[in-house]
Amino acid sequence: MKQDEILGIEYNRTFGAILNYQKLASFLLKKKILEDNDRLIDLACGTGSLIHEIRNIHKSISLVGIDIDIEQLKIARKYNSDALFISEDLFTFSIGDYIDSQNWIAHLGFSFINRLTYDEIVKLVHNLTKNKQITCVLTEIWNYEYQLNHFQYDKWYRTKLPEGFLMTKSDKKDRSDNVIDIDFEFHINDKVQKSSYTMFRYQTDVIESIFKKAGWNFFEVESSSYRESGESHNFISIKR
Ligand SMILES: C[S@@+](CC[C@H](N)C(=O)[O-])C[C@H]1O[C@@H](n2cnc3c(N)ncnc32)[C@H](O)[C@@H]1O
Repeated sequence: MKQDEILGIEYNRTFGAILNYQKLASFLLKKKILEDNDRLIDLACGTGSLIHEIRNIHKSISLVGIDIDIEQLKIARKYNSDALFISEDLFTFSIGDYIDSQNWIAHLGFSFINRLTYDEIVKLVHNLTKNKQITCVLTEIWNYEYQLNHFQYDKWYRTKLPEGFLMTKSDKKDRSDNVIDIDFEFHINDKVQKSSYTMFRYQTDVIESIFKKAGWNFFEVESSSYRESGESHNFISIKR
């Protein structure tokens, strides 16, 4: 994923503002996916929004965020003084360089994993597998059936935009059922930010087979509504 695709530190006010991390944090705790004294590493944590919401609800969880972008990590550190933020490339990082305890739960957010090609996911899973401290991975992908039958992408984006900025253009081209190219144009304080990206719709069996080939053996899927639009996502837990 290229840096210029993600609006840098404006992320929180554009795409980031659309995702409901508070709801995701409550979902993880309500379902007991995260419990007292657990350890969570948020992969591609950006400005630390999820870590922030988890800390608000739960004081005893150890929190680490990893992201390649040092500008976003500066914001993350400012608002989350008791979490550890590491600037690393997820495809090559070695968590053992930073922590020595075991049984870390890794979270791989929807907006990161669904923008990776198949080969990139394979490479990422290979690297996660090498990091033996990580024994559980939580991730989110499209609920494929729901997306195809009910989801109106552009309408959803327009209604979710917070006050103060405007999305003037959203062209969505379906390259196939599984690959979508999207062009955005945001107006933020009289500045125009353009962004283009490709999203892939992976079905759960694709993600399952990548992890299973890498030696992970427990795979559980749950439909979830924590993003506020029905059962639009599948939440997946994977264990060694
Ligand atoms: C779509 S954002 C997710 C942001 C985050 N979930 C949040 O809202 O705070 C994707 C993030 O992935 C990070 N990223 C992209 N490629 C990366 C890589 N190879 N290693 C680590 N982080 C990466 C970007 O810097 C960006 O913060």
